[in-house]
Amino acid sequence: MYILSIESSCDETAVAVLRGEESGVALLSDVVASQADVHALYGGVVPEIASRAHTEVISRITYEALEKAGVSLARIGAVAVTDHPGLIGALLVGVNFGKALAFANRIPLVGVDHIKGHIAAAYLTESAPKPPFLAFVVSGGHTALYHVKSYTEHHLIGTTRDDAMGEAFDKVGRLFGLSYPAGAAFDRLSTEGFMKAVGKAFDPNENGESQSVREAYRAFAKSDAARLYKLPSPALLGDHYDFSFSGLKTAAVNLLHNAEQSGKALDNALFAAAYTYTAVEGAITKLSLALDAYPSLPLVLGGGVAANSHLRGAVRALCERKKTPLHILPRSLCGDNGAMIGAAGYYEFLAGNLLRLDCNASASDSL
Ligand code: KG4
Ligand code: ZN
Repeated sequence: MYILSIESSCDETAVAVLRGEESGVALLSDVVASQADVHALYGGVVPEIASRAHTEVISRITYEALEKAGVSLARIGAVAVTDHPGLIGALLVGVNFGKALAFANRIPLVGVDHIKGHIAAAYLTESAPKPPFLAFVVSGGHTALYHVKSYTEHHLIGTTRDDAMGEAFDKVGRLFGLSYPAGAAFDRLSTEGFMKAVGKAFDPNENGESQSVREAYRAFAKSDAARLYKLPSPALLGDHYDFSFSGLKTAAVNLLHNAEQSGKALDNALFAAAYTYTAVEGAITKLSLALDAYPSLPLVLGGGVAANSHLRGAVRALCERKKTPLHILPRSLCGDNGAMIGAAGYYEFLAGNLLRLDCNASASDSL
C-alpha cells in the first residue's frame, strides 16, 4: 500500500510518499519546505508566521511529493498526519489539509505523534531496528528516552523537566550571534573550540575510532577551558533518566553576561566547546544508566539534535563500550521530515488506529 504523510508541527512543512509492505516501509519521495530563514529574522519560531507559511506551501508540496513518487492520489491507501505535539496553529494546517484530502478521496486518515515519528525514521534505514529497543529523541522541543515495546507502544522512561537540548542550543547560540536555528553552527564552533583546547575533537566526520572520541572527551575534561567555563550538568541527580537543561542554559547566559559586563572577552569557540561538552556529558550519564537497566536492548538515536557530531561521537563510544547495538539516524532523517510521519503512520494504520473526521490537533504530548 501507499501512504501519503504530512508534517507541519513546527517550522517545516513536509510531505512524503511511502510504500508499506510486509517487510517494512520504503520511502518514495520526501519534500521539505523549511521556514527557518523567515524565523531567523526574529531569532526563533513565530507561531502565527509558521501557520501562514504552512498554508502557503502545503498544497504545492503535496502534489510535488506525489509526482516525485510517481504515485497518483487515487492509489494512496492512507493519509498520515502529525496531530500532536507542536504549535497548535501549525498542526491545524496539516491536520485540516489531511482531513480534507482523506474525506474528498475516501482515504483512511491516521494521526501520528511527532516524537513517535522521529523514532520511526529508523524504520527507513538499512538494517532497520525492530522493537523492542530504547530510543533517545533529542530535538528542539524534546529530550526524551523511550522504551519502544512495539511499533505502536512507546513507554516514556525519562525526559527533560524543562527546556529541551535543542532549544537550549538555540537560545545560548543566539547570544553568540548565531542565527536561528543555532544547533548546526554551534556544533561547528564547538569543534573549533575542542581543537583549540586539546588539539582533537569528537570526530565530526565519523570516520575515526571511538578510542579517539574518548581521548578527546577525557582531555577536554582536564583542560583549562573546562575549568574556566564550568557549567552545571543537565543530568539530574538520582536513579532515574530525567534531565534539566534550563539550569545549564541559565548558567551559560549568566557567564556570557558577566563576561560582557566585566569587559573580559570570552572565547566563543572554547565556551561553545565547554557548553557542548557539558550538555553531551549529561546526556551520556543518563543514557549509560538506561543501557544498564535494559542491557539486552539496542539503542536508536534520533531527532534534530541527533545531527550533532559531538553527541553522535559520544553515543557511539558509549554503545561500543557497553556492546549495545546502535542505530544513529542519518542526518537527512534527524530533522523534521514527512518520511518519519509516514513510517510511524504505516504501523498505526496496521494497528487499526484511524482518526475520525471530527478529530482535533493537540499542542501537548498526549491527545
Ligand atoms: O527535530 P527538529 O527538526 O525539530 C523539533 O522537533 O524540535 O529539531 C530541531 C532542533 C533545533 O533546536 C536545532 O538547532 C537542532 O535541532 N539541531 C542541532 C544540530 N542540527 C540541528 N543541534 C545541535 N547540533 C546540530 N548539528
Ligand atoms: Zn521534531
